[in-house]
Amino acid sequence: MKPIEMLKKLRLIMCFKSNSLRYYEIWKINLLLQPFKPKIMSDIFAQLQKHDHEQIVFCQDEYTGLKAIIAIHNTVLGPGLGGTRVWNYTSEADAVNDVLRLSRGMTYKASISGLNLGGAKAVIIGDAKTLKTEALMRKFGRFVENLNGKYITAEDVNTTTRDMEYVNMETDHVVGLPESMGGGGDPSPVTAYGVFVGMKAAVNHVFGSDSLAGKKIAVQGIGKVGGHLIEYLHKEGAELFITDINEDTLKKYSKEFGATVVSGDDIYGLDVDVFAPCALGAILDSVNINKLRCKVIAGAANNQLADENIHGPMLMDKGIAYAPDFLINAGGLINVYQEHIGYNRETAFSNTEKIYDTTLAIFKKSIADKVHTQKAATELAEKRIHDIMRVGSTY
Ligand SMILES: NC(=O)c1ccc[n+]([C@@H]2O[C@H](COP(=O)([O-])OP(=O)(O)OC[C@H]3O[C@@H](n4cnc5c(N)ncnc54)[C@H](O)[C@@H]3O)[C@@H](O)[C@H]2O)c1
Repeated sequence: MKPIEMLKKLRLIMCFKSNSLRYYEIWKINLLLQPFKPKIMSDIFAQLQKHDHEQIVFCQDEYTGLKAIIAIHNTVLGPGLGGTRVWNYTSEADAVNDVLRLSRGMTYKASISGLNLGGAKAVIIGDAKTLKTEALMRKFGRFVENLNGKYITAEDVNTTTRDMEYVNMETDHVVGLPESMGGGGDPSPVTAYGVFVGMKAAVNHVFGSDSLAGKKIAVQGIGKVGGHLIEYLHKEGAELFITDINEDTLKKYSKEFGATVVSGDDIYGLDVDVFAPCALGAILDSVNINKLRCKVIAGAANNQLADENIHGPMLMDKGIAYAPDFLINAGGLINVYQEHIGYNRETAFSNTEKIYDTTLAIFKKSIADKVHTQKAATELAEKRIHDIMRVGSTY
């Protein structure tokens, strides 16, 4: 056994001993283990500089077990808004990578949607099933409060409206609250509406008309967003093909909307007009793209391109019109932004409708600049930040 493993085993044994010396012993062992710990701090500024992040905040509370990281990417357009994700990361370095990547994505999503919001995100490290308590979420709320509104939090993977209620006991800088508390409630119907109008714009770009009547559309993932999307598509007279890992969901939707059920990965090779990924990220990799026979991809899932520099151009070469995910799934963010400035459901939907025009503009830019649509969308988002930055340069 290596010395480092022996030390770790010894520390574990000490944890089960009950004499009063054990804390001192564990402390000594921790000191010996210190040099072997991953040195995430050593290059943290290099990581921040890589994509020009403004700030990163590490939050620790031993009593509740809170280990959170808040990353603020860019606040040129407004306060950084982004949800709090609870995830059992394999390492602290993974958590840092994730929060930096996600916060940057929020900057682009807010910018391209024309919102006066910056990009930020938070992660809480640990198993959501065992870690989350009222005290932990409220302690986290305290850390959010300390940022004085530079960061606004919301729900994300493994956090719920209830968790945000706890956060709200300690800070006002939180959105995604229930309607009974003046919030916007579940954002999924608004997200689905944005995906629907984005899809119509992409179909218009390819077929010369945005009608979905008779169009064959394959939807992967019939969850909160996919379910609402199916309703919109059915109303327009689309022919639907669906897949999900939940058999009950499939039965329900095939019965109610006459959708054809497809099993697992078969969804990629279907001879359809539109493919709508509404389940997982990174599904557009080289293997799956090679199977695709659709003309349009327009779905809700975040980060659909496994590697945007490889798979963005690959879709372009294949002649598939890809509606950038961070553009067409922004309805949820538009909805919580409304909550931030004073909630009005109608305004949230009418602002979400603007996704249609922006999607058309992105396809035009992609052709004019000969770049893939994800790149065209990123450039447009960056341009708005640059332009607005100059607005404040004079008194
Ligand atoms: N909810 C929102 O407002 C919102 C906003 C922006 C982006 N998104 C993104 O959209 C996607 C869907 O979000 P949601 O809120 O509907 O989530 P959800 O968890 O309600 O639904 C996901 C669905 O996908 C299914 N699924 C999981 N793995 C699958 C697989 N391998 N094959 C097929 N189906 C699978 C699940 O069973 C579930 O029905 C996610 O990627 C999410 O990040 C959601």
